[in-house]
Amino acid sequence: MNKKVNREKIPKHIAFIMDGNGRWAKKRGQIRTFGHRFGYKRMMMAIRHCADIGIKVVSIYAFSTENWNRPQEELDVIFSLIRDNMHTDAEEFIKHDIKVVTMGDITRFPQDMQDKLRDVVERTKHNTRCTFNLCANYGGRADIINAVNKIIAKNPSEPVTEQTFSGYLYNPDLPPPDLIVRTSGEQRISNFMLWQMAYSEFLFIKTFWPDMNEKLIDKCVIAFQKRKRRFGKIEKE
Ligand code: IPE
Ligand code: IPE
Ligand code: MG
Repeated sequence: MNKKVNREKIPKHIAFIMDGNGRWAKKRGQIRTFGHRFGYKRMMMAIRHCADIGIKVVSIYAFSTENWNRPQEELDVIFSLIRDNMHTDAEEFIKHDIKVVTMGDITRFPQDMQDKLRDVVERTKHNTRCTFNLCANYGGRADIINAVNKIIAKNPSEPVTEQTFSGYLYNPDLPPPDLIVRTSGEQRISNFMLWQMAYSEFLFIKTFWPDMNEKLIDKCVIAFQKRKRRFGKIEKE
């Protein structure tokens, strides 16, 4: 770990919008899915490294509600990485004391993929060092609409507060992201954690996701630690 990382000011929750797999592959004269395969390995590295730094929650935006509009061959590769590689890596999560949770409507995925995902979640549920929040078939709007529908179904006349509303979102027990890092140079949100990001810090970095490494993660954490988060208040004199 970079010595400039302040152990006392580690973000609790870091979220990655892992973008640029396709362009990274294309730059190398390879097909897009080559980038996803490489990107998967970098995702495992990022989770492990963040856990080692002391970050308690690592969210990875792996598949959005809009990503269904990609060619089937590409979806098949992404799904096989989540279904097979992640299932094999359950041992790795257990070894590193990492709990796996999912965020998003996984019921739209093929049944065998759902089963394997649930198995990884089940086998890692007692781990405590760090939580890996896999955002799959996730959309910020879907998250909000799903919460609204749950509220209506439960008691449509009950007044809603920000606090009670948060309790109906996917994974309400996770703290909101302190830092959101998007790779690949795009400076947009692409329907990620719209509610939860109200006071997140953002970093948009040019690196394509498959070039992500430990040093860059340290640099992101150091940049976060230099930010002054005010939450609407003013600095003490
Ligand atoms: C991110 O890389 C992975 C997913 C969205 C699944 P992309 O596949 O979006 O790569 P680019 O942005 O086309 O380069
Ligand atoms: C955002 O990346 C979604 C994920 C990282 C899963 P995209 O590549 O899908 O986003 P856009 O289309 O460039 O906005
Ligand atoms: Mg992209």
